[in-house]
Amino acid sequence: MPETKKILFLAGDGIGPEVMGQVRRVMDWLAKEGRASFEVEEGLVGGCAYDAHGTPLHDDTMKLALEADAVMLGAVGGPKWDAELPFELKPERGLLRLRKEMELFANLRPALVFDALAEASSLKTDLVAGLDIMIVRELTGGVYFGEPRGITELTNGERRGVNTQVYETYEIVRVSEVAFDLAGKRGKRLCSVEKANVMESGLLWREEVTRISAKYPDIELSHMYADNCAMQLVRAPKQFDVIVTDNLFGDLLSDCAAMLTGSLGMLPSASLGAADATGIRKAMYEPVHGSAPDIAGQDKANPLATLLSFSMMLRYSFDMAAEADLVDDAVKDVLNDGVRTGDIMQPGMTLVGTTGMGDALIAAMEKRS
Ligand code: IPM
Ligand code: MG
Repeated sequence: MPETKKILFLAGDGIGPEVMGQVRRVMDWLAKEGRASFEVEEGLVGGCAYDAHGTPLHDDTMKLALEADAVMLGAVGGPKWDAELPFELKPERGLLRLRKEMELFANLRPALVFDALAEASSLKTDLVAGLDIMIVRELTGGVYFGEPRGITELTNGERRGVNTQVYETYEIVRVSEVAFDLAGKRGKRLCSVEKANVMESGLLWREEVTRISAKYPDIELSHMYADNCAMQLVRAPKQFDVIVTDNLFGDLLSDCAAMLTGSLGMLPSASLGAADATGIRKAMYEPVHGSAPDIAGQDKANPLATLLSFSMMLRYSFDMAAEADLVDDAVKDVLNDGVRTGDIMQPGMTLVGTTGMGDALIAAMEKRS
């Protein structure tokens, strides 16, 4: 019997519960096949947590997250909470607290173009066909968390809003080590992105990454300013293999890279912490897309980003490469078979809902095993 993995399920708001429901089905299938054993706890995060407990993440849920072998998250937020809530209670704060307290400093955001979807990109097909980029975004530092921060009243009656971009050596070193290691398992090229021409934190970033690169002689390191990187991503995206960048630039560039693939509904992510003495990392897996409140509860959402995030969990947290490959290959199969949710629908293809996509995926996994 495979060792039981303790997973915390935080489905969140909007389409979160629906897409996470499909992950549950795939987990049940893997368990039924005797290929894995999961113990799932469920918790609230985001707007639903605020509605239930008056906070976007209850301390008890935070504790469960710290104790779990891995956390699977759906999506947070929605217009219902946007307008009325003070900053500290917004749904997004729940997500940021999880990242910070679990110390998930390395956020892996692959941008992969599936052959069957190459024409769905807003870019010319030949620019994106075969695209396979990995963005490694620093996730627990920079302007997202830097102090001082806040809005203050000035004596002249005006107000001042302050956020601070700050990085220390160890933060740059640990995330770039993850990126160098990943590059070593891929195309052996790493592009480090900052604005060293304008920001001291960017200059430090460039110097530290360059210093670390001595440990990785087989990786070809390049540096790029973030504005140029945004431009290069839409001009000639295939020049990149692995990109490593800070929290804010990584947020922007990963959305940009996401659209190269045709739909945000396809993109998974993994957020990893440091490995402990036994080599195990704290980790959380979530789709890159948001809670899509406009289609929530209608069985329309594309569950593939969340299912691919689950496959990253199998690969990075549990070393279950065969099962991760099975999920990834099944995703390719259903796309090749012409099965589509609305966001990736093309003429002549078969339109299905969230559950229909789950059905197709499980059928494809069955066929392959
Ligand atoms: C992301 C999101 C989050 C971020 C929001 C929801 C706080 O945009 O994961 O990319 O800015 O990091
Ligand atoms: Mg974002």
